Amino acid sequence: MATSEQILALITAYYNNDDERVKTLALQIAAHEAKIGHKILAQSIKDVVMKGNANSSQERLKPIDNSLIICKSTSNRKCDLIVSEKLDKQINNIILEFTQRAKLSRNGYNHRRKILLEGLPGTGKTLTASILATELKLPLMIVQTDKLISKYMGETGVKLRQVFDAVSQRTGVYFFDEFDSIGSERSSDNDVKEMHRVLNLFLQFIEQDTSESIILAATNSGYSLDQALFRRFDDVLRFELPTEEEIKKLFKLKLNKFMNKAVIPQDVIQLAYGLCHADITKACENAIKQAILNDNKHVSIEVLEEMILERRAVYVSKENK
Ligand SMILES: Nc1ncnc2c1ncn2[C@@H]1O[C@H](COP(=O)(O)OP(=O)(O)OP(=O)(O)O)[C@@H](O)[C@H]1O
Ligand SMILES: [Mg+2]
Repeated sequence: MATSEQILALITAYYNNDDERVKTLALQIAAHEAKIGHKILAQSIKDVVMKGNANSSQERLKPIDNSLIICKSTSNRKCDLIVSEKLDKQINNIILEFTQRAKLSRNGYNHRRKILLEGLPGTGKTLTASILATELKLPLMIVQTDKLISKYMGETGVKLRQVFDAVSQRTGVYFFDEFDSIGSERSSDNDVKEMHRVLNLFLQFIEQDTSESIILAATNSGYSLDQALFRRFDDVLRFELPTEEEIKKLFKLKLNKFMNKAVIPQDVIQLAYGLCHADITKACENAIKQAILNDNKHVSIEVLEEMILERRAVYVSKENK
């Protein structure tokens, strides 16, 4: 059995990121175990070290400040997204160019990877980030945009640097949600110039980044954004409210096996028109829950209508306030 000193030294070396020391200590323990007749254990330790050696050729990652970036695993697929044909093509292009990036690079081109996502709330921006991560087999790295902003410009710059270090060290889908708040939520003063400086700094970091990571910057403010901003991005994905045709597809997708009739009546589709995807999804989920609770196999159209009206009412009561 390894001595308590050896175990302590091993743990210390691990936390110091001292790979060489971990290896030496592990082999010392293996030698000790072999000497006292624990041949199988000794061999197992050596095998682990050998395997570790093979893996260490991969770049060792610096730990990322996890208060700035949350790493998420995802499972949403392309088929979970209902968007216009145009948007669908754009998303396919991002996927295709990433998977074929070596070919593009050999010919002197970069894959499109700096993407602006803009559109109304609940139309699929966050969902798209998640889908891209799944389809590209990359981790979804959610950047805590609100934590980037500091009272001091210098500090904000340091934090941005940390985030973009991670972008280049660890290939992933980096999602900057409501990124324009980086420039607008500075509470210390109303100095517009200062706000623009922070946003510009962020855009400079984006511009300078030459990694393979996908950078997604999402915003609700859409067309009010400075036009000069668009040119920093390789592509702009515009998320719109669903058309009647898309609402039909959304019902089919969300009600799935709880859908009784193959066709949803036109008046139900019309009732949902003007709502975002997230609201229609909620209405479907609420209708399904009712069906489950009432031991019904299918959602009734009347209940579905009721749930859509319930979602609509949220906005009416908001407007009346
Ligand atoms: N285009 C879509 N196709 C299918 N489902 C969608 C779509 N958009 C939204 N949804 C559903 O609504 C949920 C919420 O949408 P999501 O968070 O992607 O919206 P968002 O555009 O990021 O909104 P916000 O601007 O408020 O962050 C999704 O998880 C999904 O269930
Ligand atoms: Mg979102």
